[in-house]
Amino acid sequence: SDFQHIGNKLLDWYKENARDLPFRQTKDPYKIWICEIVFQQTRISQGLNHYNNFIRRFPDVQTLADAEEDEVILYWKGLGYYSRAINVHKASQQIMNDYNGVFPSQYEDILKLKGVGKYTAAAISSICFEGKIPAVDGNFYRVLSRVFADNFDISNSRAFNYFSALAEMIMPQNVGDFNQAMMDLGSEICKPKNPLCHECPLQEDCLAFSMNKTSEFPVKTKK
Ligand code: ADE
Ligand code: SF4
Repeated sequence: SDFQHIGNKLLDWYKENARDLPFRQTKDPYKIWICEIVFQQTRISQGLNHYNNFIRRFPDVQTLADAEEDEVILYWKGLGYYSRAINVHKASQQIMNDYNGVFPSQYEDILKLKGVGKYTAAAISSICFEGKIPAVDGNFYRVLSRVFADNFDISNSRAFNYFSALAEMIMPQNVGDFNQAMMDLGSEICKPKNPLCHECPLQEDCLAFSMNKTSEFPVKTKK
């Protein structure tokens, strides 16, 4: 589309500026799955030690599936939201039973795993299996609404589909890196408050910036 240069600029930026994170050195879907579950709700700086300890104790699907639930929960201690620990444990048994222990590669199958929503399934699919699906989350809402000065209400139940379509307009071929680039841009540059527009690779394309209205996006009517 006419807007793909935006996604390409983001990718170029990512190649130079990607954060050096342990789960960036692997395409093992098991590890990517665990990291997405952990870091969707926990800051990287807060969760990194727990993530590393968890992976050391439970390095693969089989080891996790064979563990006692109590021990899985113990390793999740400090991350909060224990339902996530119970869900990953159940999902690992689902993978053993339904996929012979082989992590499913299709988006629709990944989505069937306990505790895995559209964001997580898209992230795993794109990072590990070259799936072409944007991993839309709050970072996407913020960056896209600002770049396009789009006032679609992010509390609207259709926001996910709306911003998925916008993301697809700028998406390059390498969707795995594109998704992770959006995560990095959203947390390091296009931050909720005081975005660092002077360091942003999308500044020239950003309508909110050109109108000096970055603080007006995204629009959110309900808390
Ligand atoms: N937060 C959740 N998943 C992430 C990833 N793959 N890269 C950076 N931040 C993340
Ligand atoms: Fe966000 Fe500023 Fe970049 Fe626009 S120019 S995408 S508001 S950081």
